Amino acid sequence: MIVARTKAELRQALADPRRRGQSIGLVPTMGSLHGGHLSLIRAARDACDVVVMSLFVNPTQFGPGEDLDGYPRDEAHDIARAGDEGVDLVFAPSADEMYPDGFATAVEVSGVTGVLEGAPDQRGPEHFRGVPTVVAKLLNVVRPDAAYFGQKDAQQTVVIRTMARDLDFPTRIEVLPTVREPDGLAMSSRNRYLDSEGRTRAAALSRALRAAEDSAAAGEGSLERILAAARKQLAEAGIEPEYLEARDAESLTPVGSLNGRPVLIALAARVGPARLIDNTVIEG
Ligand code: PAJ
Repeated sequence: MIVARTKAELRQALADPRRRGQSIGLVPTMGSLHGGHLSLIRAARDACDVVVMSLFVNPTQFGPGEDLDGYPRDEAHDIARAGDEGVDLVFAPSADEMYPDGFATAVEVSGVTGVLEGAPDQRGPEHFRGVPTVVAKLLNVVRPDAAYFGQKDAQQTVVIRTMARDLDFPTRIEVLPTVREPDGLAMSSRNRYLDSEGRTRAAALSRALRAAEDSAAAGEGSLERILAAARKQLAEAGIEPEYLEARDAESLTPVGSLNGRPVLIALAARVGPARLIDNTVIEG
């Protein structure tokens, strides 16, 4: 496995496979790998000749007061893990390599970025400027046939799909299901911020989403009542969500009742020091 630190090294490592017409899959990550990341790597491994994983804690997507400095980093471990999973090339650039002096451009996707995670009282607008900007750079440097993302970050996938479509990126954007712990907790690098009591309580997020699914499956059509079923599970665990909302899964516009289109139920909550997000899609 090759570890490329610069864009030039990466391009050089990909020149030969590209010349031979091999397909390239990209898995963008911020490291601290867990089973969710590994599922993306495996999907890329199954579909592509060459698998590139990027490992870059992207500073521009962290707002002021967020956990950029404390974000879990264990590069040596991540590189070893990627090798075990059959990654061919890890791209692990420095912040200067990605954002040299004079860097002045941002990719801004309007409409789908100002709500949920991007709302001013949540992670704010910087977050969804930083994400499409770094993903556009990664797509341009790697020029993959396919890039792999997790449904765990549902809004991020909508933002990236919109960006790729609008800016004519030829890469196929693939979205893989959320990987969960046995008690339902969505795997996340931020789960390590939980202490054992918080870890137990955090399972209520997925229980809440299951309650929403069950309510819809039992014939409830009102999203207010579907969300109330979810809220009840959170309340029983003493969790007050930062948001719990129902939105059209593609446009992220608010919806009041199931209307035949897929509805995203998205949730963010603080459990102790960890800010966790999770979601499910109810097929209208
Ligand atoms: P990161 O949080 O490291 O996640 C990398 C990829 O793994 C994302 O596509 C994310 O949705 C996916 N992922 C995380 N947890 C998952 C889970 N439990 N199941 C399935 N997939 C999961 O998301 C980012 O990094 C960054 O924003 C990035 C796209 C790399 C841009 O900096």
